[in-house]
Amino acid sequence: MKVILIGPPGAGKGTQAARAAEAIGVPRVSSGDLFRDHLRRDTELGRLARSYMERGVLVPDDVTIMMVMGWVTDREGEGGFLLDGFPRTPGQAEALDEAMVEQGGIDRAVNIKVSREVLVRRLAGRLICRNCQTSYHKEFAPPRNEDECDLCGGELYQRDDDRPEAVVKRIQVYLDETAPLVEFYRRSGILREVDGEGAVERVGDAIMDALNGRAGRRELP
Ligand code: AP5
Repeated sequence: MKVILIGPPGAGKGTQAARAAEAIGVPRVSSGDLFRDHLRRDTELGRLARSYMERGVLVPDDVTIMMVMGWVTDREGEGGFLLDGFPRTPGQAEALDEAMVEQGGIDRAVNIKVSREVLVRRLAGRLICRNCQTSYHKEFAPPRNEDECDLCGGELYQRDDDRPEAVVKRIQVYLDETAPLVEFYRRSGILREVDGEGAVERVGDAIMDALNGRAGRRELP
């Protein structure tokens, strides 16, 4: 099964991606995590991405498509995939479509809907593990010990782009550049929408309901 998770920054894509991917038995990736890995390793791509990510704007399509589609190609034969945060522009959606033509296209696009007010609260309190990337929230999902990951003991940190000014920019970029994709996938018949404001488990159950049953093949734009 080939699934994409769409939603504004802080919608809960990362929180839900692991559980959903495990449940349907496919590998998953977050384009943001791939970029942050390049940042940590100080690669050429990481240095390029940093200047965009710090401002809360999208990294250009050419490098993003090359990076994510490389990951997808490496996982051919693994029964599908779940993509968190890709595609985010019409150009990325077209590149993914073209690459998937011979494999029957994408099966499901799940849009996680959350109000702006909740997004801002979530991002302001988010903490991430430097080691295993598990996400916590100071208020909604606190770690057992302050500043320490429950799973691996790694140090918790706040992302640079969770600063208030970057969050405002990221939400606007989502509305301008990514939200139109929701309509695109709705027209193609594979879109399912989920209320992302309930408890984590409830949102997870709604995503699993959305993934149950396979969508028909959709037509290319
Ligand atoms: P990326 O890392 O993808 O960030 P994002 O899309 O802005 O999404 P986030 O990771 O901020 O939020 P999320 O939806 O995963 O929420 P989470 O589960 O953590 O991208 C970062 C940057 O990389 C971009 O700005 C861009 O520069 C670049 N980039 C990435 N992909 C790109 C692409 N395709 N093209 C171009 N550039 C790209 O949850 C947030 C918080 O809420 C957490 O603290 C969590 O614990 C909490 N929470 C989650 N669910 C719930 C719940 N149900 N109830 C209460 N709390 C909850």
